[in-house]
Amino acid sequence: MDNFIIRGGKPLSGQTVISGSKNAALPILLATLLTREKCEIKNVPELMDIKSTFELLNYLGKNCFYGYGNFVVEEHTALKLHAPYDLVRKMRASVLAAGPLLARYHKARFSLPGGCSIGVRPIDIHLESFKKLGAVVTYEKGDVLLSAKKLKAGRVKFRFPSVGATENLMMCAALIEGETVLENCAKEPEIEDLADALNKMGAEVTGAGTAVIKIKGRAKLKGLKHTVMPDRIETGTFMLLAAAAGGRVRLLNTAPKTLTALIKAMEKAGVKINCYKDSMEVIAPHGRPKPVSVVTRPHPGFPTDLQAPWMVLMARASGESEVHETIFENRFMHAPELMRMGADITVTGQKAVVRGVPQLLGAPVMCSDIRAGAAMVVAAAAAKGKTVIRRIYHIDRGYEHLEHKLKDLGVDASRVKA
Ligand code: UD1
Repeated sequence: MDNFIIRGGKPLSGQTVISGSKNAALPILLATLLTREKCEIKNVPELMDIKSTFELLNYLGKNCFYGYGNFVVEEHTALKLHAPYDLVRKMRASVLAAGPLLARYHKARFSLPGGCSIGVRPIDIHLESFKKLGAVVTYEKGDVLLSAKKLKAGRVKFRFPSVGATENLMMCAALIEGETVLENCAKEPEIEDLADALNKMGAEVTGAGTAVIKIKGRAKLKGLKHTVMPDRIETGTFMLLAAAAGGRVRLLNTAPKTLTALIKAMEKAGVKINCYKDSMEVIAPHGRPKPVSVVTRPHPGFPTDLQAPWMVLMARASGESEVHETIFENRFMHAPELMRMGADITVTGQKAVVRGVPQLLGAPVMCSDIRAGAAMVVAAAAAKGKTVIRRIYHIDRGYEHLEHKLKDLGVDASRVKA
């Protein structure tokens, strides 16, 4: 197992290139199950979750080639229709294979994902919605079985704008002839990227990025060539890293327009952000950031995936602020670790009160999940002295070549064998 060692407390300077979005790449890669034609997807980050998707697609019978950000998917045999426990356990997004397989074969079987460290994370919204299109849902030995004599285009209203359920239903509807209307959809930018990919495959998807998405499905879909959008969560993490550690950095190949809520909150905290079409410059405030409270909400609200690194910035603020997490029920596991670095935080239920301190101090810490792990890196870069971060396999699920990018920005970081 690897650890990160970071010696922080020095202002940053430099520039780095943002990778393709993990959360956009995952559904687009699984959408290749909708067609037997060749698909070529570019700007796919080299990450553990993408390797798990590669394994899942190969297991199901696709022939995948993956390297240097290019992912090619071909099909030469009949597909298996079962996503087993070992693959779903590694990566919850494996449930996004269900929509394409159900649509194409009228049958799919996948292991029911368990809870994880940030919450219970049920998939009831996915399953209820498949039922509305004609699927029957049964359970056997920890697996969910979906089947349908005939799937019908229809109207589905989600009880909550779940990102995964919106994506799963979009993919399923793309292969059902007729018009499906999805209501109360997630509006995350990754949904728009998936819609773009499905349109290239021959479906007609409109309204992605709004609450109502209409999908005119086709009996057959074509292969696609697509370039994945930049990762807004990686971008946001580096923005907060620069703001918390101090200095001035430039982030290239990104999409500032996908980060409006974070930019607004950071500007209120006194951070200067210059946005260009596909890059941005972040200039940390002189002195400590101002305290700003945030509430996580579905897009375009403040993203839950940036809540943990945001808390690091507020841990250094010149006063008291609140962080209210409304998306996941247990997403404050980073708070006790930050307190080991000298932060002053009180967590009560879904709310954290953060009283800023002048300086965080290096300490041995560990990661509990992917975004909590990113927060440890941000804290370590801002803290005075040496921080050893353990369990960084969580971080490796979502941040490509992190130690190299940290070095690009002037952070003294190295990966060592534990
Ligand atoms: C996606 C992102 C993840 C991000 C999250 C919220 C990917 C691969 N992951 O996860 O990084 O943190 O969106 O922005 O894109 N829920 C239910 N029933 C369901 C589905 C969801 O109750 O059937 C609940 C979840 O438990 C959670 C909330 O809805 O509390 C949000 O989940 P959802 O939007 O589905 O997130 P994911 O797609 O899993």
